[in-house]
Amino acid sequence: MKNIYLNIYNPNFSNLKKAKKNIENNNIIGLPTETVYGLAGNAYSNKSVKKIFNLKKRPATNPLIVHFSGLKNLKKDINFNKNFIKLYKAFCPGPITFILNKNPKSKISKMVTINKKTIAIRFPSHKVAKNLLKILSVPLAAPSANIYSRLSPTCANDVADEFKNKIKFILDGGRCRIGLESTIIDLTIKPTILRQGSISAEDICKVLKKKVNVVQKTKVIKSPGQSKLHYYPGIPVLINKNYPKKNEAFITFGNKFKNAKNYFNLSKKNNLAEAANNLYRTMREIKKKKYKSISVCKIPNKGIGRAINDRLKKASFK
Ligand code: TXA
Ligand code: MG
Repeated sequence: MKNIYLNIYNPNFSNLKKAKKNIENNNIIGLPTETVYGLAGNAYSNKSVKKIFNLKKRPATNPLIVHFSGLKNLKKDINFNKNFIKLYKAFCPGPITFILNKNPKSKISKMVTINKKTIAIRFPSHKVAKNLLKILSVPLAAPSANIYSRLSPTCANDVADEFKNKIKFILDGGRCRIGLESTIIDLTIKPTILRQGSISAEDICKVLKKKVNVVQKTKVIKSPGQSKLHYYPGIPVLINKNYPKKNEAFITFGNKFKNAKNYFNLSKKNNLAEAANNLYRTMREIKKKKYKSISVCKIPNKGIGRAINDRLKKASFK
């Protein structure tokens, strides 16, 4: 398909250098990662961080994730601990975000962390994100590149659709390999998963050799990704359904469902990773086809299926 957007750039070396210039000039860019696309800016610059919050219409009470290329120079911003090193060695670069204590001397914008002592950090494995971080001398603050409470984007066109020409530069890294946001684990307390993702609690338990908590519901919102209506596709979502209402879109999983115009199968092969990868793309497609609501069949609650169900539950919140 012909690319209709003028602000989407092939991630060759010359465009990576342009992306670098944009970041140094406190501009915001669209950045591919293996999970979802991010809205990236210089984490040390209040001006950049303010732009991110404005573009996303994100409440100033919801902190951002900071992306680094590796452990080099990390100590000036972050206080490490043993659990972090173990998980870093096992999973990084990759789809996991750590909540750690910020080094009090860090120059990271206080708006990123909403003045808290803790900070969320991540080391993306996508080649384009890695290459850009390597040539930058600053880390990147990057929330998912969507308007607050909406679906995360999983390709460059989704980012352009969401922000039109409000973002001037989007690096095209193709479709995201995972398609759901990273697992978030708080390591400032007894290891606690705040947001589920493709790296599961079981995967983490094996590395830490101890039980990790998974936050299901919180009264005090510790991570606003836990706020109730989130990942909203713009039309009502109903979960755990056996069939759709008349004229409604039906998201299915597995081979027991028929092929019909309003049926959208996340994985005919019963593959949960494939289903996760198709989830947001499918919901966007359904919205574009002008359906007025979506029913979703029951999705197995294991492995990355837990992350899928977490997103669906929040998308269906009334
Ligand atoms: O996969 C991902 O993590 C993507 C890509 C672009 O890296 N990013 C992402 O960012 O999903 P965002 O901003 O959409 O979600 C980050 C979540 C938010 O729910 C935020 O509240 C939480 O991380 N968070 C950030 N800092 C935190 C902190 N210090 N303590 C607890 N939660 C925090
Ligand atoms: Mg988000």
